[in-house]
Formats: sequence, C-alpha cells, structure tokens
Amino acid sequence: MTTTRTPYRARTFDLSGLKGISDKTLEMHFKLYDGYVKQTNLLNERIAEILKDGKIDQEETPAYSELTRRLGFEYNGMVLHEYYFANLKRGATLEPAKSSPFRQVCEQSFGDFAIWKTDFVGVGKLRGVGWAICYQDPATGRVSNHWITLHEVGNVTGFRPLLVMDVWEHAFLLDYAPADRPKYIEAFFANVDWDAVGDRVVTPR
Ligand SMILES: [Fe+2]
Repeated sequence: MTTTRTPYRARTFDLSGLKGISDKTLEMHFKLYDGYVKQTNLLNERIAEILKDGKIDQEETPAYSELTRRLGFEYNGMVLHEYYFANLKRGATLEPAKSSPFRQVCEQSFGDFAIWKTDFVGVGKLRGVGWAICYQDPATGRVSNHWITLHEVGNVTGFRPLLVMDVWEHAFLLDYAPADRPKYIEAFFANVDWDAVGDRVVTPR
C-alpha cells in the first residue's frame, strides 16, 4: 500500500529517438534524475530519524537545518525533471495546433504565439544554470515565462508548470558545445509533446 511515508520512486520515460537530443544524453539525464529521487528520499529519512523522538535536540540542530535547507533543491530537481521528460515525445510537431489549449492561453496572455515563444526562448538563453518554465496562474489563467536558478530559485508558489525546459549544460553537453545552447533549444522545440502540455492547462474558476 502506498502511504504518505512511502519513498518516492523514479518514473521511467520512453524517449529514445528524439530529434537532436541523443539517446546517450537521455540515458545520462535519467541517471541524474534518479539521483534527485534518491537524495529526496534520503533527506526525508534523515529528517524523520531526527524527529523520531519527538524533539530536535540542540546537537541535532545543525544537521537538521542543513538537511531541511537542501529539500528545495532536491525536491525541485526531482519534480522538474519529471515535468521536463513528460513534455517531450518522439514524432512531435514544431508548434501546437491552433485549437490547442496551450496555444490559446499563450495567445491570450501574449497576444501572439510567436511572441510567447520569443520570450520563452529568450528566458532559456539567460546566462546561468537553471530552467525556463512557462507557468500558468490558476487564478487568472494567465501564463508567464520564468527563469529558475538551479532548481528552486524563482518558482512561483501555486502556479502550474505548463512547459518545462532544462537548460543545465548536462541536458545537452553530449550533443552540443556549451556555447551552442540555442541549438539545443531548437532541438527541444522539435520534440515537445503539445498534447501533454495542453493537458496541464487549467480553466480559471
Ligand atoms: Fe537536468
């Protein structure tokens, strides 16, 4: 039985044969993702161990603090990779169909899908280590593109990730030089599962 204390299990994704993102890159990337799942479980175990006697002893405070501070990095490292792999597929089309709910919310928020894309690609090219994420505000339905430093700095609480693009160098280093991130971004767009992205869109209440 799955309980709230069951450790997280790494999900598997069948993504071989993408355009411009090699199987070798993906295999390496899946291993990195597995590492985030393991680290998340490990942090939770160690924190639970400290809490077991119902108190945080003074000598446990430094360890407890450090473990707790690392949760944001490891949890987001796990969850963002799941969104990223789940919004890729073989045989994708370059753009979402006109009827796609994702395209529609982008047009409502940016006036034009091409402008939304210019912004998202621009965010993906920002210098630094992190992610480009198109988020939807569930209260208004509006979408906005955000730069996330590492895994945890810049995420907007309560917003829904619609399209998630990993731009850490490990996402493309086996296929492109570090300075060629724009080529990787182009490859990313050749493999987006627009149906999966559309399924993440919510209609505001
Ligand atoms: Fe990654």
